Amino acid sequence: PATPVANRPETLDQARDAAMSCTRCDLCQAATQTVWGEGDPNATLMIVGEQPGDQEDLQGRPFVGPAGTLLRELMEEAEIGAVWLTNAVKHFKFRPRGKLRLHQNPNRGEVQHCRWWLDLERRFVAPRLTLALGATAAYALTGKSGSLQNRRGQTEQAMDGGPVLISWHPSYILRLSGKDARSARLMLLEDLQHAVRLVR
Ligand code: URA
Repeated sequence: PATPVANRPETLDQARDAAMSCTRCDLCQAATQTVWGEGDPNATLMIVGEQPGDQEDLQGRPFVGPAGTLLRELMEEAEIGAVWLTNAVKHFKFRPRGKLRLHQNPNRGEVQHCRWWLDLERRFVAPRLTLALGATAAYALTGKSGSLQNRRGQTEQAMDGGPVLISWHPSYILRLSGKDARSARLMLLEDLQHAVRLVR
């Protein structure tokens, strides 16, 4: 849906306030709340995930569940400084099963509708580098939807300009085990360290 120009947020805080009552797609219906980005609004690095999970939906903050614990651990190991942490989609998409809420991938339409918010965040934070975690973030930022097998560790161009470094999503790493999990964890750590060097 088009937003009248007069209603376009002019600051990051205005954008966040407007996003809290977003109804651009149907995901707002079942989700608890909009999960906006957080961190340093002057950061030179932006990290973009897929969408809030169960914990994020309840707490209203990005990356506070199991994937977030892994990400934050690796960010500390990589000595990530100022960062803006956000998601491609700002509402939790899930399928109820009993008392559980099972994560579902957002579809292209949902990602595209939510790009309105991601674009605003990017305009106001204006990072020098963006790290895309997983295929949804990579698609939201670059418009390209290929597999990450050949893209991870590489830098692509964001649709709104600027470099996007592609990496694994921490939830993907949590679904692996043994050697595969260790190797993917190391790759994400390397990408975070690479990001630190690129924004230095
Ligand atoms: N996964 C994401 O992509 N984002 C979050 O905020 C949490 C889990």
